[in-house]
Amino acid sequence: MALDRTDLDTRAIGHLQRLMGSWGILADLSFADLVLLVPVRGTANKRLLVLGQIRPSTSQTVIPDDLVGDEVEGEGWDAAVEALGAGSLCECSLRLPRGDEDVYAQMIPVRFRGSPIAVLARVLPLASRPSEDGGDSGTSRLLRSVALGRREGRLERVYQDLSEKLIAMVADGVFPFPIEDVPVEEAPRVGDGLVVVDRFGRASYASPNAVNALHRLGVYSDITGKRLSELGVEDAAVQRSLNAGLPVIEEVERKRGVIVLLHCIPLISHHEVTGALVLLRDVTDLRRLGRLLLSKDAAIREVHHRVKNNLQTISSLLSLQARRLSPGEGKEALREAERRVRSIALVHEILSRDPGEQVPFDEIVASLVKMAEDSIVSSDAIAIRVHGTAGELDADIATPLALVVAELIQNAIEHAFPVRNGHDASGTGTGNQDIQGSSSSHDTDEALAARDFIGHVDVLLDREDDTLILLVEDDGIGLPPDFDIATSKSLGLSIVRDLVSSQLGGKIEMCSKQEHASGTKVRISVPLEHEAFS
Ligand SMILES: Nc1ncnc2c1ncn2[C@@H]1O[C@H](COP(=O)(O)OP(=O)(O)OP(=O)(O)O)[C@@H](O)[C@H]1O
Ligand SMILES: [Mg+2]
Repeated sequence: MALDRTDLDTRAIGHLQRLMGSWGILADLSFADLVLLVPVRGTANKRLLVLGQIRPSTSQTVIPDDLVGDEVEGEGWDAAVEALGAGSLCECSLRLPRGDEDVYAQMIPVRFRGSPIAVLARVLPLASRPSEDGGDSGTSRLLRSVALGRREGRLERVYQDLSEKLIAMVADGVFPFPIEDVPVEEAPRVGDGLVVVDRFGRASYASPNAVNALHRLGVYSDITGKRLSELGVEDAAVQRSLNAGLPVIEEVERKRGVIVLLHCIPLISHHEVTGALVLLRDVTDLRRLGRLLLSKDAAIREVHHRVKNNLQTISSLLSLQARRLSPGEGKEALREAERRVRSIALVHEILSRDPGEQVPFDEIVASLVKMAEDSIVSSDAIAIRVHGTAGELDADIATPLALVVAELIQNAIEHAFPVRNGHDASGTGTGNQDIQGSSSSHDTDEALAARDFIGHVDVLLDREDDTLILLVEDDGIGLPPDFDIATSKSLGLSIVRDLVSSQLGGKIEMCSKQEHASGTKVRISVPLEHEAFS
């Protein structure tokens, strides 16, 4: 990283980072590219390193390349070295790294705690170099060619004048301000609208976009010489900024819900506040969109919540109905249906908490495991363990995948460990009743202890590139001979097959473990970019 190649301490770096956080305004006002240079460690300030770079949004750039991280030295750059050493502004023409034309640069020392620590280069086309024939000050003449096709008007003169003031503040160590400024994406830029006020808060200039923003606030009269408060616009932010000599950002809301963001930057010369720049941005639409988004989120959450409640009601109804039936196939079918509905409800529970498109799948798996454990009457007999992580998944992948996990865990519990019941594994789906029946409350302590390690079910989650891998393994009796998942007609695995291949576009392999190990292993792979193809 570029910062490792300099000797600057963390406070000095903090100052430069604040400068880069707020230098957009300086680039825009001076119609110039800005490049921040810091001395390279161990070169006695002779060699400089580009720490940052910004282009103006008000003018063409003269630096098409990314210079950050480049080191510069020698011809032309002496002016920068001089600015750093002497702490005064220097000008020169030079060739930038990888550039094919000379450019004009003004080197501004960046002062921090009394000493120059870096150089800010204001880079312009060479044609804008001030001529030698006297007259206006060099920098005001820069404008003629900098304006690149735009007529030199009042706006250009005002901007140029403001940029000179800010540059003097950089060289004096007053800009950037010692406090964190507003977040970059929120802060109004010069192009959004700019009003210049004197030290009493009276406006001396308003850019065309600022005039528009003021119109939105209901101000139609000429604001020159007036304070915003005299025109009915709350200007407490401007006054606070002038009094404290610090930037202030505040939203001003007027009737009809119009919201304008004011960003006040005081201008300081010789320790005195001489006025301020007020950047205005009409954020009405932005805030309205933000509110809409919030209410959409709330609506989605509400829908998920209702779906979850309805699913829970359905599962309760199924359970009530099952209880009324005498033992047999019908009762069992209702129980299974109830369990499946509960798995779906569980996914919705998590969806209703996080309204985003992405769901933390590991949490879903943890809840499914808990649910499965609760369904085993003596829960210590079969240990269910989860390994690895699936991370966040799209809601439309998470829901079917959760059902798959639930079915596979349930199968392991129901079919893999029938031995402890004294029954043989028939693999016909009747194991469920056997296990539940025999692991009931009249088991002795010894029986429970003996059953402690009867079986393990391992759920493994992993990601390989864009594929999610799900393994469900048990150390039970293995699959019945001649079993084939592709032809299995029973409901549980038919559901799994359908969800994996049709809905998730994935693959499923199911086999009995071979050689030393016994048990069943199911491997499912799901492409996570599935929707993109469909
Ligand atoms: N982990 C496993 N260990 C041993 N046998 C298994 C395992 N998983 C599935 N089987 C066998 O595959 C058969 C089909 O499973 P499937 O889930 O499709 O139906 P089921 O569990 O019998 O009934 P349902 O799931 O519809 O309640 C089971 O009856 C069982 O014989
Ligand atoms: Mg099953």
